[in-house]
Amino acid sequence: PLPPPFQVPLPIPPVLRPVGTAGGVDRYEITQRETTAEILPGIRTPLWTYEGTFPGPTIESRRGRPVTVRHRNELPVPTVVHLHGGRTPAASDGYPTDLVLPGGWPAVQSGHHHMGGMRDPRAVETRLTRDYTFPLDQRPTLLWYHDHRMDFTAPAIWRGLAGLHLVRDDAEDALGLPSGPRELPLMISDRAFGADGTLTYPALDPALRERPGVQEPYLAGVLGDVILVNGAPWPVHEVDAVRYRLRVLNASNARHYELEAVTDDGRRLDLVQVGADQGLLAAPVVHASLPIAPAERYDLVVDFSGVPVGGRVRIVNRLGSGRTRDVMAFRVTRKAKDGSRVPHVLSADLPSWRRSDAVRVRDLSFRAGRMDGGHGWLIDGKPFDPARTDVTTRLGDVEVWRLVADVHHPVHLHLVGFRVLSRGGRPPLPHDAGLKDTVSLRPGEAAEIITRFDGYRGRYLFHCHNAEHEDMGMMANLQVT
Ligand code: C2O
Ligand code: CU
Repeated sequence: PLPPPFQVPLPIPPVLRPVGTAGGVDRYEITQRETTAEILPGIRTPLWTYEGTFPGPTIESRRGRPVTVRHRNELPVPTVVHLHGGRTPAASDGYPTDLVLPGGWPAVQSGHHHMGGMRDPRAVETRLTRDYTFPLDQRPTLLWYHDHRMDFTAPAIWRGLAGLHLVRDDAEDALGLPSGPRELPLMISDRAFGADGTLTYPALDPALRERPGVQEPYLAGVLGDVILVNGAPWPVHEVDAVRYRLRVLNASNARHYELEAVTDDGRRLDLVQVGADQGLLAAPVVHASLPIAPAERYDLVVDFSGVPVGGRVRIVNRLGSGRTRDVMAFRVTRKAKDGSRVPHVLSADLPSWRRSDAVRVRDLSFRAGRMDGGHGWLIDGKPFDPARTDVTTRLGDVEVWRLVADVHHPVHLHLVGFRVLSRGGRPPLPHDAGLKDTVSLRPGEAAEIITRFDGYRGRYLFHCHNAEHEDMGMMANLQVT
């Protein structure tokens, strides 16, 4: 019973209120629990949620104002919370074995199967609630929080464990970009539904307890045939004929999009990019269409002033076919005054590391391979092992990483933002602009990134953000000393 496109109103995730603010710290509480929601009209879909909604509630923060979030796990399996793009101390970064246990879960798991080898049960922490502390001492941007449990991240996100976290500051507020109801978060994700409304996921272990990964035909990643924006299928949103700021996140497990804004008479509206994963660009970049890989974000301004009242603008995925070509639509309902601006200079604090600043260059390959008798996805020939340190760097060091891929791999580094230096030996593409935390490697392509390992010491991760690849080994440890 799939709805016709552009009928369901676009939901805006609720903004979470702090349960307290003391000493300049905002305290939040989130309960992870099962619920059902009407995603497809007339049928209930069971979900795993943060605080009862999918997407979870949005947290709105100011730069440098710390936040603590107490997560309580009422789900049937352990969970892990990671704030994607957060500059976070390692203890709160959601390492895949730093679990929030549900009631009744054995404190020590023994004989637990892992495609990358046996687990060390001593490494498994045990708590029913967990407090995460986020200093948010970082450039303002759209972050997102999602599950990150070892081997089972993909099905947990699929079932609904994802939410947004916005960081703002005074300098960004002063730019005059569209705001209030004219700033819209857009979390795009694809899902597949059974006839009874349940989300279908081809897990090898539907209980998500022992055996990670997906069935053989889904090794490349799990795709759905329904495109959701903020949890609603192909939604529509009514807009004034003015500029809007769209905070776009691809929260899909494996689907790539190439987004385009098209009017009903076939005109393409410019996508004016003002920000990337890690905040504002130096200056706006105008795109006709924009590729977006899992976990990437774009901060866009779209001007609806040239669209006649009553007209419609569809957001289309050029990589889709049939129903996955449609994403959502905007309906222009009235003329209105527009006090917003898109300044020619957006930010002056973008890091501009040069190749000559790098104290080392690393080569890292992202390729399919065999692990534990099955197929998997490997970094430098190895599947993830929490007991092994893969990369050790020193706090403050600048490094160049040369990443090479066999197929599409959106590679994400925790803790730091980076710049894309090159792709296939050529200068980066227009959509690589700004400070990134996820770079979309294309098949057979090598890309170079540069970053400074800044912030905190400790054990962090880098991994492919195709969530199925991540669960099937494509993750590695990064030790900042
Ligand atoms: Cu969005 Cu390590 O993840
Ligand atoms: Cu991958």
